[in-house]
Amino acid sequence: MNLQSTKVLTNGVEMPRLGLGVYKMTEREETLQAIDHALKVGYRAVDTASLYGNEVEVGEAIRHSGVNREDIFVTTKVWNNDQGYDATLRAFEVSLKKLNMEYLDLYLTHWAVPQTFEETYRAIERLYDEKLIRATGVSNHHEHHLQKLLAKANIAPMVNQVEVHPYLQQNTLKTYCTKHDIALTAWSPLGRGGVLDDPTILEIGQDLGKTAAQVVLRWHLQNGTIIIPKSVSPSRIEENAQIFDFELTQAQMTQLASLNLNKRFGQDPDNFKFDF
Ligand SMILES: NC(=O)c1ccc[n+]([C@@H]2O[C@H](COP(=O)([O-])OP(=O)(O)OC[C@H]3O[C@@H](n4cnc5c(N)ncnc54)[C@H](OP(=O)(O)O)[C@@H]3O)[C@@H](O)[C@H]2O)c1
Repeated sequence: MNLQSTKVLTNGVEMPRLGLGVYKMTEREETLQAIDHALKVGYRAVDTASLYGNEVEVGEAIRHSGVNREDIFVTTKVWNNDQGYDATLRAFEVSLKKLNMEYLDLYLTHWAVPQTFEETYRAIERLYDEKLIRATGVSNHHEHHLQKLLAKANIAPMVNQVEVHPYLQQNTLKTYCTKHDIALTAWSPLGRGGVLDDPTILEIGQDLGKTAAQVVLRWHLQNGTIIIPKSVSPSRIEENAQIFDFELTQAQMTQLASLNLNKRFGQDPDNFKFDF
């Protein structure tokens, strides 16, 4: 595996295993520089959302990077108050315009709004049929949400993006997704930094001459999970990509597996405050 390694989705589309997350990048210059730097060091995926308010900057940074648009995997998401069939189609148009692109690689339902998430996914299927997106997916969907979608879908979701890190390993959901050929992407793969002081992780890092962040990101990779760590710092953007030159042993993987606490740093999809 290397920085350009991909996971092949059910329709054959290749999704990079490592991408740059851009949540909370609200400063224009900082955002442009972070994406530019990531692309320079070899990242080939960017994960944004209409909620993040930086789709314009994501599009701009990609256009000015010198890397071909077709070589970069761009994901965005439909926010909760834009869900439902027609509203999702409209929200997609707005995102596409802001990004100033002809198509997107992946479009996700951001959270499963109880009344509308099924219709939202139906709109995503239509966007796929119209070749405006190369892959379909969802985010923050529990197994019970996926079951509902799979019961009706013409095209099963290809990706589910959920919170995953050593303190929230999501093993049951992961098994379900694997069984249904849904690629799992970890958001907050570093637990927003909250797992990086863990003594076990630090000790493994010391043994390998790697940082805690590199150990955690490598653990995700060896679990087959796609990762989208966020950083605005050039040195951390590089650090987070230097995870292809070492391997965790089976014993280290087992040690990391034992850290699960079912602890969330973000919200539980079943208790999300949908008026936010
Ligand atoms: N679908 C969803 O609902 C959802 C929810 C949350 C996030 N996401 C996506 O997932 C991406 C990643 O999640 P996240 O941003 O919440 O959390 P994260 O990637 O786990 O952690 C980001 C935090 O860790 C710091 N950091 C990054 N690399 C580091 C390193 N090597 N050493 C120490 N600290 C480091 C960053 O600070 P600096 O920037 O200062 O380096 C930032 O504070 C988001 O950007 C977004 O694209 C999706």
